[in-house]
Amino acid sequence: MGQQGLERDLVDAAVYERATQRFRDAKIRMPTFAELAEPARISDDIEGRLAAVDPDAPDPLNLFRVHWFNDADRRARASVPQHLVLPTSLTGVEAPIIVALGNRFPMIAAHKVLAAYSCLAPRIVTGQFDPIEQRAIWPSTGNYCRGGVAISRIMGCRGVAVLPEGMSQERFDWLDQWVADPSDIIRTPGTESNVKEIYDKCAELAQDSANVILNQFAEFGNHLGHYLVTGRALEAIVEAQRPERPDLEVAAFVSATGSAGTIAAGDWLKDRYGAKIVAVEALECPTLLENGFGEHNIQGIGDKHVPLIHNVTNTDLVVAISDVATDQVLAVFNTDAGRAYLSGRGVPAALIAELGSLGISSICNILAAIKTAKALDLGPNQAVATIATDGAAMYQSELDKITARDFPGGFDGVAAAETFGRHVLGAGEDHLLELTRTDRDRIFNLGYFTWVEQQGIPLAEFEARRDQGWWRDLRSLLPVWDEMIDEFNDRTGANAPS
Ligand SMILES: Cc1ncc(COP(=O)(O)O)c(C=O)c1O
Repeated sequence: MGQQGLERDLVDAAVYERATQRFRDAKIRMPTFAELAEPARISDDIEGRLAAVDPDAPDPLNLFRVHWFNDADRRARASVPQHLVLPTSLTGVEAPIIVALGNRFPMIAAHKVLAAYSCLAPRIVTGQFDPIEQRAIWPSTGNYCRGGVAISRIMGCRGVAVLPEGMSQERFDWLDQWVADPSDIIRTPGTESNVKEIYDKCAELAQDSANVILNQFAEFGNHLGHYLVTGRALEAIVEAQRPERPDLEVAAFVSATGSAGTIAAGDWLKDRYGAKIVAVEALECPTLLENGFGEHNIQGIGDKHVPLIHNVTNTDLVVAISDVATDQVLAVFNTDAGRAYLSGRGVPAALIAELGSLGISSICNILAAIKTAKALDLGPNQAVATIATDGAAMYQSELDKITARDFPGGFDGVAAAETFGRHVLGAGEDHLLELTRTDRDRIFNLGYFTWVEQQGIPLAEFEARRDQGWWRDLRSLLPVWDEMIDEFNDRTGANAPS
């Protein structure tokens, strides 16, 4: 697992040559990170051709939709990323909570296809992945491996999903339809927080040089992609509020961490607006808060470790949310009784109609944003920004289990009111820590056991990440990779703008 996708030069010319050949034959043009951050830079020619492409098809042009600016039907480009601004009637706090919607991404209707592309693209253009001879291995708790399998299919190479057997049925149904062979879905023991079991399986697969492990927890492409592409998208959303809210501040950016890729957008928002960065985890597995461990159902935020790509010493708060809260609020947002109750509270109809865009971890982010707003005593001009990784479509089977388990008499208006009162209006300042320098170091140090002891990362490389200067230098990779992507595209000539 030593490789971390940090190369800025060609590593293997023969591998690079084979990748160019495959991309030329399959007519795959790669978008640059700058294009994904600001899709207005994508040529009109490509935009025009994209109009005829189904957003859920394994079509190479869909790589040019791996950004936040897709319209509600995901076909056309929106001038501002699709988002919700949650009002007091839905949150109980004055601070507006801004949520960017990840279910507008192509192929998997979740933003993790961006992480998959961000990990793979640098590998391709530095000659570290051979799509003709090698298999791409995507370790994940669900959405990243779907994104990876989608991109592998576009490349015409074998993509292997490694995920815990306990993840939602919808994820497995999707994978069944996309993998080249059923053996390309590898189920590891456990559920959401069993990430170590995923690492162990990857270590076994890595013995075979035909397998390339694209480990999102350790690939800095994941961090950098979100820093620029997600960070810039959130900035565009904030700036779009200016005409109505000229004094709007971005007080915090909230992100439940799985691989800790998304939270890198907080680094962007901190530089731009001074936003505090809030890392969120499941209360049932409070690794950052208490060095804790445990099982939970907030799918996508696997835990019991601190990812190598988490910029821990730039994190300001840690918040834990119970999966009882996320499960039950999912029921409020996705049942007739829940929606009727919210309507009675004065939540606008247009917003209620969009609540299906919020999956379990998205609800987790929103609950953590509410707790943050309370802890920081934020007012109406102090926004909390966050994202919705995926929508509720991935969790219908979970919803059925939750209602049978927690509301055996049925989910009615009383259940909706009680659930909302308990988990949303009642969200308090508990299980929340404003980090001191000692707290940051404690969390940073916890990563030692995974990365240095277990996964063999050299101590000096591990330690370097304590310093913010290291992370600032890291960003210089983005323009380097973009130049390499341009050169790669020139060589393949694929889908060149006419
Ligand atoms: C549903 C869901 N929510 C949240 C996350 C966490 O995002 P990140 O891995 O960028 O920290 C993931 C990651 O796979 C996810 O699938």
